[in-house]
Amino acid sequence: MSTDLMDKLVAAEAWTRADLLGLEHLSAEEITLILDTAEQLKTMTGGCAGKLDLLRGATIANLFFENSTRTRTSFSLAARRLGADTIDFSSSGSSLSKGETFIDTAKNIEAMNVDAIVVRHRTPGTPHLLAQNVECCVVNAGDGAHEHPTQGLLDIMTIREQRGQIEGLTVALVGDIAHSRTARSNIWGLQKLGAHVIVCGPSTLVSRHWEKLGVEVAYSLDAILPRCDVLNLLRIQFERQLMRPFPSVREYALLYAMNGERMTRAKKNILIMAPGPINRGAEITPEVADGPHSVILHQVTNGLAIRMAVLWLTYCAANTGAPS
Ligand code: CP
Repeated sequence: MSTDLMDKLVAAEAWTRADLLGLEHLSAEEITLILDTAEQLKTMTGGCAGKLDLLRGATIANLFFENSTRTRTSFSLAARRLGADTIDFSSSGSSLSKGETFIDTAKNIEAMNVDAIVVRHRTPGTPHLLAQNVECCVVNAGDGAHEHPTQGLLDIMTIREQRGQIEGLTVALVGDIAHSRTARSNIWGLQKLGAHVIVCGPSTLVSRHWEKLGVEVAYSLDAILPRCDVLNLLRIQFERQLMRPFPSVREYALLYAMNGERMTRAKKNILIMAPGPINRGAEITPEVADGPHSVILHQVTNGLAIRMAVLWLTYCAANTGAPS
């Protein structure tokens, strides 16, 4: 590892966690350290296009038990941008079908001298269980409807990049809050950095219980729209629902889709975000998704920077003997 490169990065020694399992228990200082490191890595790689040598000799394994486009490819690319080898495991076609357990599967992957396992699983808490059973670093790439910490971080990085700071901003998360791991990670991260967070959607998808997390609960997008600096439009996750939470997508879109007409009633510099995948015509119309206020593809690029930062920081913590 190049000492010159390491010297250019913000103080990685201030980071002490060998695992990244969520944002709920991180401090504002820890979140800021990840954001600062990601910004530096983005600059040092020419906007995440170039390579660095920070993780040469390391091996990162992606264990995905749920589908993914952005998270899986960007963790893989982030590892390779830092010089690491990668293993991409997916449950379909694996020996899980022969009765091997999740933990045995992970331990066998770890036995191939793996430094970090990035895991996505439909069951909340799976990364936490894994971290108790392996020695290597564990990074949560989404556990059920619980947390998606790197999505929360890349969303916050994008807002900070565009607005300069998080403190004092009003950020609304709109849509399927009930089933959203992105919502939880955003809420915990944004509030720690001083944002006012609103969760908005139909009452079948946004319970009053969310107020216990310190957020404002709203049922009318039109009522909150003039106050919002940022809208993060969450996908309706039909695959996690037992029953349809509204009569039709058309009726949902009439009340909650961000469209051209609603843009005329929003703040002039509103940021339009979405974690992806987006369903055009449901939570967002094409003219807004592809319009000048949309930073959706910036979020994807920043995902690479955040994942480079997380892989680097956890690797550093693991290799200085810091506790998880
Ligand atoms: N935002 C997100 O997690 O996308 P993928 O499911 O494609 O990884």
